[in-house]
Amino acid sequence: MPEAAAQSVFPTRVPLPPEDVVDREEFLAELVRRALDVQSVLIAGPRRTGKTVLANEALRRLREGHGALTVEVDLFYCGAAREFAAKLILACLESREGRLHRALAGAERVLAQLTTSTEFSARIPGVELRWLRNPERISDEEMLDRALALPERMAESARRPCVVLLDEFEEVERLGGEVLLKRMRAIFQRQEHTSYFFLGSRPSTLRALFGRPRQPFFRFADPLTIPSIPPDAWRFYAGRKLAAQGIRLLDTAAHFLIEKTGGHPWGASRAFSAAYFAALSAKSTAIDLDLAVSAYEGMMGNLADVFVQELQEMGDLPYGRAVLHRLARGERPYGTAGAHPQQVKRALEALVDRCIVRRDGRGRYAFEEPLLREHLIRAGG
Ligand SMILES: Nc1ncnc2c1ncn2[C@@H]1O[C@H](COP(=O)(O)OP(=O)(O)OP(=O)(O)O)[C@@H](O)[C@H]1O
Ligand SMILES: [Mg+2]
Repeated sequence: MPEAAAQSVFPTRVPLPPEDVVDREEFLAELVRRALDVQSVLIAGPRRTGKTVLANEALRRLREGHGALTVEVDLFYCGAAREFAAKLILACLESREGRLHRALAGAERVLAQLTTSTEFSARIPGVELRWLRNPERISDEEMLDRALALPERMAESARRPCVVLLDEFEEVERLGGEVLLKRMRAIFQRQEHTSYFFLGSRPSTLRALFGRPRQPFFRFADPLTIPSIPPDAWRFYAGRKLAAQGIRLLDTAAHFLIEKTGGHPWGASRAFSAAYFAALSAKSTAIDLDLAVSAYEGMMGNLADVFVQELQEMGDLPYGRAVLHRLARGERPYGTAGAHPQQVKRALEALVDRCIVRRDGRGRYAFEEPLLREHLIRAGG
């Protein structure tokens, strides 16, 4: 009889433990190869499809297998360009020191404390950091320039490659727009030992940033598309994880869960986790179709909060939710009550840009996350 475990055997924390990153071997090898070749990449794709998981696993391999320095900043959590700069500096120091704790807020206060209480310049040979003693005396521009130059300074002094992950990169528009982008590009393009992983969930915005000739980041990074996880990879992985807990996953159950979630990385992982907990509470050593169906039903109730919040974020999008409800029911979007066809068109474009749906042939749209579609059908409206 399986024992109740404190934690799911299907973890969702990021970084994911390496053994829980399903499939993706080729993609990871590609990321590592490009980083070692000092080529930057853009990974733009739908929410919760594993962009951050993949980039983190690639950084781990680069650190542990190739001695690279790795730096990570999530632009979503930066209130302004100056805070981005402070966080980038902290993340750089962390990559050399390895002992600093990333502060989500008050990065500058942490920097000031750090540099007044310790001799950083002495501890990072070749990288002069005395300028950080009194960050309040440094102008925004200087702070930013120094921050943007730091990864390469460290790479040179350590004679190791440096890889910088800039997550939620579309936020760059909010933090400083074209001026910030130009500063970044001017500094990044001279760097010979530092490569960048740009991540984000607004593909068309990001592709425009990197793909239009007049944009500062034109051709600075190659766009890569994350492939979907094949059903068999999920079946083998989930079967192995459950078997380690003394639970057998029947093929019919595995197929059902993979089909319902479309094998979406987050959705499928949540579904197998729900099935695992259902087996524990039923004191069952096998997950059959019946158990999988009841686990799925329970999960849909539990995930409602996630989707409700996400739909609320769509409040700024006129007719976005109404159009989405029609698409979920398989109806043509242009019949949306009270909406002019132009408004429907704009709503559809925004839903595609936000990677909630994708165009699937003439006038047809598919949901990136089958579970969101199911939630909308159940919620009605
Ligand atoms: N390769 C994978 N194998 C197993 N689970 C995965 C994999 N990739 C992603 N997941 C699951 O999906 C969840 C979301 O992944 P992640 O946070 O990397 O997505 P994301 O694309 O960065 O999303 P966002 O756009 O919201 O930042 C993870 O917590 C994990 O549970
Ligand atoms: Mg992410």
